[in-house]
Amino acid sequence: MKEHAHILIIDDEKNYLLVLQTLLEDEGYTVTALSDPETALAFLHESEVDVVVTDMKMPKISGQEVLQHVKKFWPHLPVLIMTAFGSIESAVEVMKYGAFDYITKPFSNDELLLSINNAVELAFAHQQYYLLQKEMNDKYGLDQIVGGSRAIRDVLVMVERAAPSRSTVLISGEPGTGKELVARAIHIASDRRDKPFVSVNCMALNTGVLESELFGHEKGSFTGAVAMRRGRFEQADGGTLFLDEVGELSLDLQVKLLRVLQERSFERVGGTEQVSVDIRIVAATNKDLSKLVSQGKFRDDLYYRLNVVQIPLPPLRERREDIPLLVAHCVDKVLAENKMQKKSFSKEALNYLTGYEWPGNIRQLENVVESCLVLVAHDIIEVDDLPPEIRDEEAQFKSAVDLLPFPLDLGDTLEKIEAALVRRALLRADLVQVKAAESLGISKSLLQYKLKKYGITSH
Ligand SMILES: Nc1ncnc2c1ncn2[C@@H]1O[C@H](COP(=O)(O)OP(=O)(O)OP(=O)(O)O)[C@@H](O)[C@H]1O
Ligand SMILES: [Mg+2]
Repeated sequence: MKEHAHILIIDDEKNYLLVLQTLLEDEGYTVTALSDPETALAFLHESEVDVVVTDMKMPKISGQEVLQHVKKFWPHLPVLIMTAFGSIESAVEVMKYGAFDYITKPFSNDELLLSINNAVELAFAHQQYYLLQKEMNDKYGLDQIVGGSRAIRDVLVMVERAAPSRSTVLISGEPGTGKELVARAIHIASDRRDKPFVSVNCMALNTGVLESELFGHEKGSFTGAVAMRRGRFEQADGGTLFLDEVGELSLDLQVKLLRVLQERSFERVGGTEQVSVDIRIVAATNKDLSKLVSQGKFRDDLYYRLNVVQIPLPPLRERREDIPLLVAHCVDKVLAENKMQKKSFSKEALNYLTGYEWPGNIRQLENVVESCLVLVAHDIIEVDDLPPEIRDEEAQFKSAVDLLPFPLDLGDTLEKIEAALVRRALLRADLVQVKAAESLGISKSLLQYKLKKYGITSH
């Protein structure tokens, strides 16, 4: 690792420069030694350097100016200042401008090497962090939200509009509709993107643990609290806190959360000191929070605080035109991840996928696509290769009926079922009405009557 580090040394004393260069090269570093700071600054703009070591007192450009220049263009590049004219004041000064360290000549080789080692470690840690960050941004950016339907375009517009503000966002939608994906996209599209995105699942933890998880605790606040621990609120400072499954919060924690949202400060468990944080809250729920409010299970004041910007995510079955796009997206992803040869779904199989109800939404679709790609040996995946719940009408019928909420209005429900079946038949028949009618066992004219009745267009 170390031998890959590139160190730039700047010192107007050429002999000294040579000594340092030899010393660092012996340690395995790649070294560029320049006696003219102006050349050195130009060099920085065209090369990748991990650490800068500069003398303080040089003609034309001082070490301090080098430092300021570096901090302006590369805030995370560590700069080590050496000086023969060390005084506490100038040391304080350069540290204030963001120098990594300050050493006074003459110094021992060990002293210099130790400091350079630390600087290299810091530089590598930063580079690693930025790589990860970039990976995250590529993985979760707005362009990862696939779909051309009106509903998904509306979602994208809302994400873009909401992202720059600090307003609390409430994302609602059935399981697997992309709530977390949207929450991350909001974070990445905001100017908080370089700060943490911290996620808390309110369902996974019981009240006691959740409280210390969210707010942290002071040492000794309960058995087992051997040290002070910062909670998720503090970890997310400057960034975004994602409260997943917020409908699961106990009434007790709802009160505490409301206080933080109002005051932007809180106390750690067992503490008295007020901790202030700058966070953006994005909450998600697959429950109807307003219903929970009317049932007395969710505080209305907290609901209004959370529900500032609301982004409802439509179930997949209400935006079927996105299904082929999503299938293609998943196929590409799975093939690339598994380095598999190209495979695809036959037109008919794709029609079945488009017609299915997808109770588990996009997550279920991803799973189905992945299992087909992995398990099916031939290149074109046919209807017979699809999982039974999608292929098998009987099973589908049963699970669809199981999904219906009671009590219901029988006439109204039957009409909805009929409309859904007509729509599906048409999709599976590739919009050819004669074929769709045939598959439903009705005449073309009856089909046309039903299409009209349910407002279904055949394109
Ligand atoms: N519009 C979309 N385009 C591409 N992939 C999507 C889209 N929406 C969701 N996904 C993918 O579907 C999967 C489920 O999404 P996500 O975890 O965000 O859903 P969720 O609503 O949080 O689900 P749950 O309620 O189960 O937690 C993820 O792998 C996500 O990348
Ligand atoms: Mg989720």
